[in-house]
Amino acid sequence: MLNTLPSLLLLLLFKTKAASSDESFIFNGFRGANMNLNGLAEITSNGLLRLTNTTQQQQGHAFHPTPLHFNKSFSFSTTFVFAIVSEYPKVSGHGIAFVLSPNTDLPGSLPGQYLGLFNQSNNGNSSNHILAVELDTLLSPEFSDIDDNHVGIDVNGLRSVEAHTAGYFSDGSNRGFRNLSLKSGQLMQVWVDYDGPNMELNVTLSPIRVLKPVVPLMSITIDLSESTLDSVYAGFSSSTGSFLTSHYILGWSFIVNGRVQDLDLSKLPSLPRIGPKEKPKVLTVGLPVILSMVALMVASIVGLTLWRRHKFAEVMEDWEVEYGPHRFAYKELYIATRGFRERELLGAGGFGRVYKGVLPKNKCEVAIKRVSHESRQGMREFVAEIVSIGRLRHRNIVKLLGYCRRKGELLLVYDYMSNGSLDKILFNGMKKDRLGWSQRFRIVRVASGLLYLHEGWEQLVVHRDVKSSNVLLDGEMNGRLGDFGLARLYDHGTDPQTTHVVGTLGYLAPELPKTGKGMHCQSILIFFNM
Ligand SMILES: *[C@@H]1O[C@H](CO)[C@@H](O)[C@H](O)[C@H]1NC(C)=O
Ligand SMILES: *[C@@H]1O[C@H](CO)[C@@H](O)[C@H](O)[C@H]1NC(C)=O
Ligand SMILES: *[C@@H]1O[C@H](CO)[C@@H](O)[C@H](O)[C@H]1NC(C)=O
Ligand SMILES: *[C@@H]1O[C@H](CO)[C@@H](O)[C@H](O)[C@H]1NC(C)=O
Ligand SMILES: *[C@@H]1O[C@H](CO)[C@@H](O)[C@H](O)[C@H]1NC(C)=O
Ligand SMILES: *[C@@H]1O[C@H](CO)[C@@H](O)[C@H](O)[C@H]1NC(C)=O
Repeated sequence: MLNTLPSLLLLLLFKTKAASSDESFIFNGFRGANMNLNGLAEITSNGLLRLTNTTQQQQGHAFHPTPLHFNKSFSFSTTFVFAIVSEYPKVSGHGIAFVLSPNTDLPGSLPGQYLGLFNQSNNGNSSNHILAVELDTLLSPEFSDIDDNHVGIDVNGLRSVEAHTAGYFSDGSNRGFRNLSLKSGQLMQVWVDYDGPNMELNVTLSPIRVLKPVVPLMSITIDLSESTLDSVYAGFSSSTGSFLTSHYILGWSFIVNGRVQDLDLSKLPSLPRIGPKEKPKVLTVGLPVILSMVALMVASIVGLTLWRRHKFAEVMEDWEVEYGPHRFAYKELYIATRGFRERELLGAGGFGRVYKGVLPKNKCEVAIKRVSHESRQGMREFVAEIVSIGRLRHRNIVKLLGYCRRKGELLLVYDYMSNGSLDKILFNGMKKDRLGWSQRFRIVRVASGLLYLHEGWEQLVVHRDVKSSNVLLDGEMNGRLGDFGLARLYDHGTDPQTTHVVGTLGYLAPELPKTGKGMHCQSILIFFNM
């Protein structure tokens, strides 16, 4: 008897000590915590207590596994940090409730507006023995909810005993009520304090890292000993509705009859980045800029390619293949004349404008004549003739190097004559006086070029426009006849009798304008001018 007393005492002592240690607990993150979980609730690898993931119309429960023993005048104090993270910031699925319940599975409970606490038949029944502090993000009219962002005190049912729009009463110099959005995804802290002897229940909410406000959000007088049983489980319930929302508890501290131990906010786990992510600036600002720049670049490259394709477009038909060697690429001529700019313009004649150019391939100086020609009629014959003319070689005719065809345009490439045309010397009076007889003789030899055109070749080439501006002077002041053959371009497919005569009146054989014939004898009036 004497022997057993101390051991009994020891047993008693041990028991009370064990009991008191069970009546308080703290979780700064839930990694490795022993919790009673059901529904969607789970503890994530980094220690978050996730009550629900984004699965719709589901619930999750998490209870501390050991029951708390409440005598008649118990008090308790608890605080927890939560986050309601919605995929769409403006809408969210239901909410979270802190719960004191006689069991850990809340049998028969429904998700959605029932918050995983009750169902339609047991809602409001005093035999539930449930106290809940709800953080509700939807307005359920059937429970007379005040708004879609409120904190409520529920006893045995969802029709709150007391409710208040989520927020807090700021203590500082700037006193007043501050709204908080429960579904903002921001971390918030809740305190629930019950003073049994005074039958006072306070609920306080604040943003994380704001000290517990002195004035609670709600303070009511209530005797919880009537509604709770002696053995109570503390925990959380959460439910989702139709919107994709996750509910998290990051830390939790609880004590029966005492002052709750503060959470160590620095030890709380961090939320996963889900839903509308707070992307780094590089992505939110940089990415659109980069994307639009890339789009702009692609557009300009495509535009440039199309533009170049259009700009350098040529007309090439099957029959031209055989004239390949005599054909120039438009791009080449474009480069040679630096884009046919005005500074390269040598002159504008009856058939078109003539530009000076330097061929990029062999740095040869050329003169390029642009002849506009709308009809494709007779083009084949004309090109054939141009090419055959290109085979003519005589020191008193300007050599035709080749051609290029574009839509509505023909380009003829000639040797460049460095001393220009005879008319410049004759009529500008610049070098006229300095022309010696030997030079004049060389110029006059252009007549032998004309003879060659008429007789030196199996085909007759008619010039019909022999005038001083068509007599060109090469580097050695040799007169060379230019522009021959072009008249045919305008003749082909037409009746020379009826159409106007190409050429310059006064430089043509007089009978030609009348009859369209008489191409053989042409007067070279230029020499009279000399
Ligand atoms: C939510 O959790 C449940 C159970 O853990 C799982 O089966 C389901 O795939 C999860 N849903 C999503 C969207 O993560
Ligand atoms: C209830 O229990 C607390 C400690 O757990 C004690 O201080 C208090 O006196 C008890 N009250 C009653 C009425 O038993
Ligand atoms: C409601 O829940 C209770 C348990 O609290 C259960 O007995 C009852 O069957 C449930 N009713 C419905 C309609 O689910
Ligand atoms: C409350 O629930 C108990 C047990 O589930 C049941 O016997 C009783 O009829 C219910 N009361 C009401 C008003 O529904
Ligand atoms: C707080 O929220 C209520 C209802 O949502 C709104 O009417 C009120 O203007 C808000 N007050 C402030 C200061 O944001
Ligand atoms: C509840 O809040 C009031 C201040 O409004 C305070 O005086 C009282 O001590 C609080 N009660 C508990 C149990 O924290």
